[in-house]
Amino acid sequence: MVTVEDVKIIELPKFLDARGNLSFAEQLNHIPFEIKRTYWIYDVPGGEARGGHAFRENQEFIVALSGAFDVVVDDGENKKVFTLNRSYYGLYIPQCLWRTMENFSTNSLALEFGSEHFDEEDYVREYGDFLKLKKDGKI
Ligand code: TYD
Repeated sequence: MVTVEDVKIIELPKFLDARGNLSFAEQLNHIPFEIKRTYWIYDVPGGEARGGHAFRENQEFIVALSGAFDVVVDDGENKKVFTLNRSYYGLYIPQCLWRTMENFSTNSLALEFGSEHFDEEDYVREYGDFLKLKKDGKI
């Protein structure tokens, strides 16, 4: 069963340069899956939280391209909080974990890579349903 211990911060390459810094991420290298989708979250008003849900199949890789925010992951038994505040760190989140994004700083920009195309059926949006699916070993 997937647990919060499977969530990993991955340090990305960085080329520090007086002209400006550069980082990159490659699929099946730094990002441990094939990327089928990219999306980004921006203009988050102060105090808002996003992403209270789990995915059955979709794995994610999240980068704070700008600013900072917290990603809270929860496997039904344990929770962990990861603060992303550098654009050369990515957070790998396997499928079947509840995750929420919160404490967005002003002008923060979250870039997310997904292993699956968008599919509403892949979401578990009720925390009670998530706990039951976990307890029954269905996700
Ligand atoms: P959602 O995943 O619920 O946002 P968050 O996890 O940040 O709270 O997505 C919000 C809306 O955007 C939802 O109606 C579905 C739509 N959406 C897509 O159509 N395609 C996508 O790739 C994503 C991530 C969301």
